[in-house]
Amino acid sequence: MTAYKAEFIKVHTEVGWQTLPTEPDKRLSESEVRLQLCVEEDVNTIASAIYDLLPQAWWDRKQPPSPTLPPLEERKARLAQRLLPTFRDPKVHVDWVKAIHVPSSTIIGIAGWWAPGNPVHNCWRRTAVDYYDWKTLMNWTDADVEDLWVGIDFEAWDGEMARHDEARKGFLGDEKHWYLAPLLIFPEWQGKGVGSRLLRWAIDQADKADPIMPLWLESAPTARGVYLNWGFEPVGETRMLRRGPGRKVDSNGEVLKNAERSEQKQ
Ligand SMILES: CC(C)(COP(=O)(O)OP(=O)(O)OC[C@H]1O[C@@H](n2cnc3c(N)ncnc32)[C@H](O)[C@@H]1OP(=O)(O)O)[C@@H](O)C(=O)NCCC(=O)NCCS
Repeated sequence: MTAYKAEFIKVHTEVGWQTLPTEPDKRLSESEVRLQLCVEEDVNTIASAIYDLLPQAWWDRKQPPSPTLPPLEERKARLAQRLLPTFRDPKVHVDWVKAIHVPSSTIIGIAGWWAPGNPVHNCWRRTAVDYYDWKTLMNWTDADVEDLWVGIDFEAWDGEMARHDEARKGFLGDEKHWYLAPLLIFPEWQGKGVGSRLLRWAIDQADKADPIMPLWLESAPTARGVYLNWGFEPVGETRMLRRGPGRKVDSNGEVLKNAERSEQKQ
């Protein structure tokens, strides 16, 4: 078990808490965690984690509380259906990676890594159905699509994701890149280095690529310390971009100059 502890990076959050460096004695060892690609049968676990782990305020904006909203379990089932094409459509390549706690064979975390070469059109968007022709792929009728998105506020859901897509296109153009959406560790397993393992899954591949492959994500304010620690640089409020190895921020979250990067702990 490594005794390494990351240098604290303070980030601004409105909720008053943020992730903290992983304590060495809490970190799970390499052999206690196995990473494996998800299979279609994992889609319900993925959808459930997205509902349970993304902040309630985020969900309340996207799917505003209303007496007509279906019960949570049905909402999760609909999201699972909406994510199913990411497993089936050969035009998109999403590596859903699960972290398994080896001693208990439990799924403890999930990362959605969108592989380099995908079109920049987020598969979570409702417009993805037409963009990727999923009515044909999934045998969905218009009524099915309507039902799958019941209660979802189109502007809050698609609008925000469309703006993120535009920003990503603006920064990266046609450059191939990894895109992370989402990174979720189940609460009792947080702060044990599992998030880092799932980040490293793609970071290691990206850094070995020639030329080095950029990685892009949109971060919750509370999790920015995680990504700053891993060398992602802020691109505005929520978007972050990582180009190459090195932890490139100091304890105030300031991006370090090239000369200082090589001295950072790897
Ligand atoms: C955010 C989340 C994914 C992090 O996963 P985790 O398994 O708890 O995180 P880890 O213990 O692996 O820590 C991640 C890394 O960030 C570092 N880190 C975290 N907060 C830090 C901070 N404030 N300053 C410096 N480093 C920090 C850790 O030290 C670790 O790096 P290391 O392995 O180099 O030491 C997890 O808490 C989670 O699922 N939260 C709820 C859902 C969510 O918000 N997801 C993110 C959406 S963008």
